[in-house]
Amino acid sequence: MADADLVPFVGRFRESRVGVLGDLMLDRYIWGSATRISQEAPVPVVRVRRESASPGGAANVVRNLASLGAWTATFGVIGADRHGETLAGILREAGASLDGVVVTPDRETTVKTRVIAGSQQVVRIDREQTGELPDACRQELLARIRAAVQSRAIDALIIEDYAKGVLDRALVEQVVEICRQGRIFVTLDPHPANPFNLHGLRLMTPNRAEAFALAAMHEQPTVLPLASDEALLRVGQRLTELWGPELLLVTLGADGMALFAAGKPLLHIPTEARQVFDVSGAGDTVMAVFVLGLLAGATPAEAARLSNHAAGIVVGRVGTAAVTPAELESALRGECGGASAGPLIPGV
Ligand SMILES: Nc1ncnc2c1ncn2[C@@H]1O[C@H](COP(=O)(O)OP(=O)(O)OP(=O)(O)O)[C@@H](O)[C@H]1O
Ligand SMILES: [Mg+2]
Repeated sequence: MADADLVPFVGRFRESRVGVLGDLMLDRYIWGSATRISQEAPVPVVRVRRESASPGGAANVVRNLASLGAWTATFGVIGADRHGETLAGILREAGASLDGVVVTPDRETTVKTRVIAGSQQVVRIDREQTGELPDACRQELLARIRAAVQSRAIDALIIEDYAKGVLDRALVEQVVEICRQGRIFVTLDPHPANPFNLHGLRLMTPNRAEAFALAAMHEQPTVLPLASDEALLRVGQRLTELWGPELLLVTLGADGMALFAAGKPLLHIPTEARQVFDVSGAGDTVMAVFVLGLLAGATPAEAARLSNHAAGIVVGRVGTAAVTPAELESALRGECGGASAGPLIPGV
């Protein structure tokens, strides 16, 4: 179904200035082929042909915003190491501001390295230090956020919690207060390991599993029509009690998304039938586009439809991906990949 009436909002994305605070990560890929088993251990020997890297975690939201034309400020912590340099280089290249990124020798950059032989992922190697941030880092990070908000450099702040240690309740509470005083709205993609239960958020975007976990309930499968999904309705009610966000968007994977807004009936936005290559990072795209939609003047329901279309594009691509305004506009018009130069698959 075409949503051509939403196209004008996309044209306004480039007028927005958005901050992203959270766990910045680097996704690395080592591509090669495996033709034999090692003599040292029963594992394949992978001959490396090429390596690539892309932004992960909160950095993927930064990339999504920048790709859609918004001015984007990055807030987070990276190590004084080569992976940190790589990540900073990619984000700088994408046009994002890195003035809010604290570089520290006390912590290594979070990196997830996948070794892929042919089309098969053989192993993933993670480097991360998820302990609390050193106090100096945390104060520096807060100072940079405060400076950006007070100088009116950003119109909204997205907080992306991947539970890698950058965010804790005290820090998020302070940030929400800074934004309240600066009259900019704050959104959060929460992690179930961090049930902060704090108030003052404009929007939360857990996926279904995260929403159930944050509500301390056992996850139940989706029931359609969504208005009869009693378990989800209870989760929505519980999260509204615990966190009180103005808007709660629960993403439902192949079933689309559920939008809870105070005083409104639950809204279900189903996905359109499409082939799916890789759903990783779709949640990051949803957050980026929803926020840009709100800033462009869309209603929450319109912002949800916009983000649903954008997510539909990225799930048709391998690896985490970002969408351009032209691609989103042609998806909204119901054109099949018309303006896309990327690896869109036929029929999407
Ligand atoms: N299989 C699918 N088919 C069509 N659309 C999908 C599919 N999976 C995800 N999507 C789209 O992506 C959105 C977000 O997906 P999902 O609920 O999986 O988020 P998520 O788990 O937070 O993702 P991630 O954390 O990997 O970024 C959905 O609301 C939907 O619009
Ligand atoms: Mg997610």
